Order: sequence, then C-alpha cells, then structure tokens
Amino acid sequence: MDGTFKDNDYSRIVDADRAHVWHHLIQHKGFETGEPRIIIEGKDMKVWDQHGKEHIDAVSGGVWTVNVGYGRESIADAVRDQLVKMNFFGGTVGSIPGALFAEKLISKMPGMSRVYYANSGSEANEKGFKIVRQIAHKRYGGKKHKILYRDRDYHGSTLATMSAGGQDERNAQYGPFAPGFIRVPHCMEYRKHEQAGAPDEGYGVWAANQIEEVILREGADTVGALCLEPVTAGGGVITPPEGYWERVQEICKKYDILLHIDEVVCGVGRTGTWFGYQNYDIKPDIVTMAKGVASGYAAISCCVTTEEVFDMFKDDSSDPLNYFRDISTFGGCTAGPAAAIENMRIVEDEGLLQNTLNMGEHMMNNLHVLMEKHAVIGDVRGKGLFIGAELVSDRGTKDPLNEKIVGAVVADCMAQGVIIGATNRSIPGKNNTLCFSPALIATADDIDHITDAVDQALTRVMN
Ligand SMILES: Cc1ncc(COP(=O)(O)O)c(C=O)c1O
Repeated sequence: MDGTFKDNDYSRIVDADRAHVWHHLIQHKGFETGEPRIIIEGKDMKVWDQHGKEHIDAVSGGVWTVNVGYGRESIADAVRDQLVKMNFFGGTVGSIPGALFAEKLISKMPGMSRVYYANSGSEANEKGFKIVRQIAHKRYGGKKHKILYRDRDYHGSTLATMSAGGQDERNAQYGPFAPGFIRVPHCMEYRKHEQAGAPDEGYGVWAANQIEEVILREGADTVGALCLEPVTAGGGVITPPEGYWERVQEICKKYDILLHIDEVVCGVGRTGTWFGYQNYDIKPDIVTMAKGVASGYAAISCCVTTEEVFDMFKDDSSDPLNYFRDISTFGGCTAGPAAAIENMRIVEDEGLLQNTLNMGEHMMNNLHVLMEKHAVIGDVRGKGLFIGAELVSDRGTKDPLNEKIVGAVVADCMAQGVIIGATNRSIPGKNNTLCFSPALIATADDIDHITDAVDQALTRVMN
C-alpha cells in the first residue's frame, strides 16, 4: 500500500466501497449488515482480502481471466513503458504493440488473418455480429442477416449479445431483445434425456443436426452466421460431444453460414491449446477473445477474421459505405496489446500450454476420485484447466442439486480459503455446476489443495 491507509486497516476502503460501489452480479442487501469482500493483493495463485486472509484462487479472478497468475512484474513493466511512450491514439491509426501483438496472435491461428481491437468480450462479439450484418447487406440485400446462437451459451452483457444469449435466467427482465437472433438447441450429453428424440448412440451428430433443422426452418438464405462457444463456460462447462464439431462445420459450409467462435473464456491457453476451437479441427471465419488475452493486466479484446471476411470490406473503395464503419475508442489503448504480448510470451516460455494439459488431467483425476466418494457429483467434464462438476440430488434422475446447497459448497470452500465458482443465475433451476479454472501456472499441490477443499466442503454440506 502507499501509506495512505494504516497497515492492515482497510475499514475506510470497506466503508467507501459499501457506500458507493455497485458490484457486479451480486445482491447488495447483505452488505447492509455484512462487508463486501475487497481483494487487496495477489501473487501467483493466491489473493489476500481486507482481513489479510489468504485464498488460493481456483477461478482466475472469479471469471476465468488471470491465466498467467497474479503479480507479474514483467507485464506491469511492459505496460508502464508503453504508456509513457505512447498511451493512446484512436484506432484509425496503428501502434507498435497493436501491430506486434496482431502478428504474434495470427501466428497462433492458422487460417486467420485480421485483428480488430476492442475492450470487452461483449464488445468483440458485437463487432462479429456487425460484420455479419454488414456482409448480409453488402452481399445478400440484407436477407442473410440472422445469427444463430445456442441454448446455454453466453456471449456478453450488452443488449445485442444478450439477444444472442442462451441463458434465460441471465436474460430475465432485460427484454425486449434485438430481432434476428435465433436459438439452436444445446449439445449437453449429460442432459440429453431432457431433449426429445435424442439418441443413445451418435448424440454429437444428432445435436449438430438440430442446428440444421433450425436453419431449414428459418430458411438458409436468411441465416448469416452461427455463433458458438467451443466449450460452453457459464452455461455449465459443456464439452462438445464426439462428432459434433465435424458436423457443425459441414453444416456451415453447406449453407454458406459464417462460423463465429466465441473464445472469450477458452482463448489463450485455458484448454491447453492456444484456442479452444483448435481441439476440434474447426475452421472459423470469426474468432472473438478477451479475458485471458492479457490475463486482466489491461483491458483488451479482439475480433479476429479470415482474410476472406476482411476482403469483403474493401472490394469497392468507390462506395462510401463499403468498409467496416465501426470504432471502439479504447480499442486504441496501447496498454492492452502491450500486456498481451508479454502475456503470450509467458505462456510460451513457461510451457503453460503443456502445464495446462498436465494439471487439467490431474484435476480431472482428483475429481473422478471425489465422484466415487460423493454421490452428489453427477458428472465431471472439461478440457485443460477448464472443468465443471455438476451436482445432482439423485444420480439416476439427474435432478439438479438445490442451488442454495450448491452455494453452501462454494461458501464452505471460501471459508477454507479456496475460491471456487458455480454457474450463477444462468439456466433456470439448473445453476448446479461447480466451476474450476485455476491459473495455467497451477502445480499439482495447488490442484490437490483445491480438490481437498471440495472434498471437505461436500462432506460437511451433504451431511
Ligand atoms: C463465453 C463468453 N463470451 C463473452 C463474455 C463477455 O465478456 P465481457 O464480460 O468481457 O464483456 C463472457 C463473459 O463471461 C463469456 O464467458
């Protein structure tokens, strides 16, 4: 601290926060009697709160963001040096870190070519949607403008991204939404018994074929794009079933539909590959990313496209409307790409993709052991260090565990100094999946510490 506040006395901060800060995604009534939590400091996998209590963070800043861990001086130095040299200029011009990060990023994304900078995941997704809409107008007289999104997926908090939001509880009370966004069914094998007609065998192809049915119902000539998370995050950590992505890719090709992959959570290492879609041999047209791009050291998001998509915006320079007439003021901040370059160097030089695969496997094994001990764990799924454990009141019926009990498990872990997550106000009656996304630097000891806490929490809460 800078000496303004007495060592270890953050009561003034707590008071100021309680009086004036409107926190994200939380009911504030409890703060009238209790305290908001303030995180004071972080180092590697750990954070300390206003009471000096140490926590191991199993969710990378709460929302799967701090991929390289806390307290990285080299990122802070890179950002500082860049800010002193040149902090900002609107994005009609270029910058040194903007050019260098784009080059580095594209080198990890064969087939992709252009990087559009913005600030949040929602914003990057909106850029993708606007690109699709403008192509519809330029090429198809405005007809091929519909954007398909999937049940349980999330693409952001703005009204257009909520219009593409597959989480009904998250969306509740915020309508009416924008027209032209059409929902397709989810591909969650664990809950296929809730989907009429889902087969025992070949579920992945069947689930993808449900998308084709929607396209045929709407008319393929009205559908411009399909926007999907590679592994659904807040909707329940849903890994795609076998055969799903191959069929999705075929369907997009068949009907000339652009494939927009939302890598806001999976991007930059979370699943053990640079991007989640790279686990499935997908060739996207648009890829959006945010959280792990600079691990929260600066705000940055990117909407990346193929050269083919980009070319459609410069084919007729005599037409005054024939370019992407979009701006994001803070997409011109240089702190984002400066932090992102150093973030990517760390992932590479420290071998964090391989560590993610190794530690992901270790965590998965630990959770499978817990599953044998605790009948309340109905399913464990994930990819790399992106894992969910779905809690059920009955393994046979798969009835979701009551949300309050899920909350008690999370709270018990917190009391033990382990921050885990749970799906939150996303699917009505089905916010029952514990979420784990530790930093990609996690060690086997860290993972054991986290799963031991879950073991103890389940033992206490379920008895
Ligand atoms: C898959 C996905 N897409 C988009 C977003 C929106 O990102 P942001 O909160 O940065 O706008 C999120 C946020 O959690 C997300 O999980």
